[in-house]
Amino acid sequence: MLLKAAANVLLTHTGLEEKEVLSLLEIPPQPEWGDLAFPCFVLAKKLRKSPQQIALELAEAISHEEGLSASAAGAYVNITLNRSVQIPLMLAELNKPDFLKPDIGHGQRVVIDMSSPNIAKPFGIGHLRSTVIGAALYRILGETGHVPISVNHLGDWGTQFGKQIAAYKRWGNEEQLQQDPIGESLKLYVRFHQEAEHDPSLEEEGREWFRRLEHGDAEAQRLWEFFVEVSLGEFDRMYQRLNITFDHVLGESFYNDKMQAVVAQLRAKELLEESDGALVVRLEEEELPPCLILKKDGTTIYPTRDLATAIYRHEVMKADRLLYVVGGEQRLHFQQVFAVLKRAGETWAEQCEHVPFGLMRFAGKKMSTRRGKVVKLEEVLDEAVARAQAIITQKNPDLQDQQEIAEDVGIGAIIFGDLKNNRLNEVDFSLEEALTFEGETGPYVQYTHARIRSLLEKAHARTHVAAHSDFNGTAPAQEKHSSELTDASSEMLGDAGWALLKQLDRYHGQLIRAVRQLEPSVIARFALDTAQAFNRFYAKERIVDGGRWRIQLAEQTADILASTLQLLGLKAPNRM
Ligand code: ARG
Repeated sequence: MLLKAAANVLLTHTGLEEKEVLSLLEIPPQPEWGDLAFPCFVLAKKLRKSPQQIALELAEAISHEEGLSASAAGAYVNITLNRSVQIPLMLAELNKPDFLKPDIGHGQRVVIDMSSPNIAKPFGIGHLRSTVIGAALYRILGETGHVPISVNHLGDWGTQFGKQIAAYKRWGNEEQLQQDPIGESLKLYVRFHQEAEHDPSLEEEGREWFRRLEHGDAEAQRLWEFFVEVSLGEFDRMYQRLNITFDHVLGESFYNDKMQAVVAQLRAKELLEESDGALVVRLEEEELPPCLILKKDGTTIYPTRDLATAIYRHEVMKADRLLYVVGGEQRLHFQQVFAVLKRAGETWAEQCEHVPFGLMRFAGKKMSTRRGKVVKLEEVLDEAVARAQAIITQKNPDLQDQQEIAEDVGIGAIIFGDLKNNRLNEVDFSLEEALTFEGETGPYVQYTHARIRSLLEKAHARTHVAAHSDFNGTAPAQEKHSSELTDASSEMLGDAGWALLKQLDRYHGQLIRAVRQLEPSVIARFALDTAQAFNRFYAKERIVDGGRWRIQLAEQTADILASTLQLLGLKAPNRM
């Protein structure tokens, strides 16, 4: 809105395209210089004048426009907006659906592959990142006119289930597995690998069970279903705490009867070649290693299942675009899968996109399922909530619903601690850091939001404010009211309030940027900057008795903070 207002004026005076003007406009390094700065270098060639000369002339021309003033500084034109004109317009803009929910998706259907943990294995930190990033993208896309469709692509098939069954048959116990599904499964898995080192017959036993599973053997099937059920129960508890639901939970096994068609299609296109008894698609032109399709023993593998999956999402789910929120270590896998799709004549392969993310460590610890050295996610969540509870009790001992709020804050700290980082960055996660109420954290944003809500409660309790103001943001700018602070431009919000309003004005653009870059951290950063701008406003200016513009600004700050928290997957409690 702010940029557009300035851009409109510049358009008429420079003859440049709107897009160009928008991309050139800068925020001056010192707020005293103005609200926006326009560099004149690009015009020098066209006008055959020095940028300094152009800046002088442009500033002079613009000064005659209403609602702003301009001055030249070297090659720049600094533009200062007339606050009493802009404040009511900008505040009104912040309420508009076009501003809050820009329709840039036009109903595009985006299937998001997210979370996708493996049955009978611990829910890894990578799965946590995929869940949290995927869910944020899901909401951000939904907010901007797309139709997002989330799929949890469970790893519920593969030779490891043969081993799992073999180990369970030898050493397993139903009750123990019920009680601690993943822990028990993991123990069995680890033991299987340890004992297999001395006893090679175990491997054969595992393969045999997988063969039986693939051929629909009743006992193998029953045991496999049991593993899936108990693991899923454990995952669901976590999803519930993270407040995540999926449109579809379709494991890899769902595609078992859909892979022969893929193999047939590849064969018909003469793409399959033999290599050591296995069948592969060679991808030399793409400079990629060959993609394995059928193993020597005729069984399908991970890439084959992903090919069938993609085709299903395109044909049955009617996906216009397919996103895969999966760790960066699978980059090659997705390059190969997308390349094979393209070779197979699926032109929509262009619409498939791997959305990778970096490794995350909890206090330096990585995860390794083989050796069983694991940071258990559930324990991390419990720990975060316990710490949040301790902080809240100390800060606000009389607070009601402490337990519930501690859950919101503790879980929120973890989600935000992840999402504030550019997704490709490696993250060394520290619970202590994620939970400080003053740092760049989820609790800091939540706390700022709660503080505004309680401030507003106070303000609304004051009858003179309630009686004389219209809080909908639709009131005419020059309406007289009894507040001691008048509408005189500099007094309306104060400098810190004006800075906050300019910050809120960025929301629309940042939402669009988050979509274009598929980057939730854009929203998290925006939330932090907004909370900071509000706290500066709070420290410097009167708010509760500061007149209706300030109350309205506070209200809209709280609403926008609540929206950003919601988009990222955090709760926004009104009290903390
Ligand atoms: N289950 C896999 C893993 O844990 C991730 C699956 C990602 N999605 C996919 N369509 N391949 O590594």
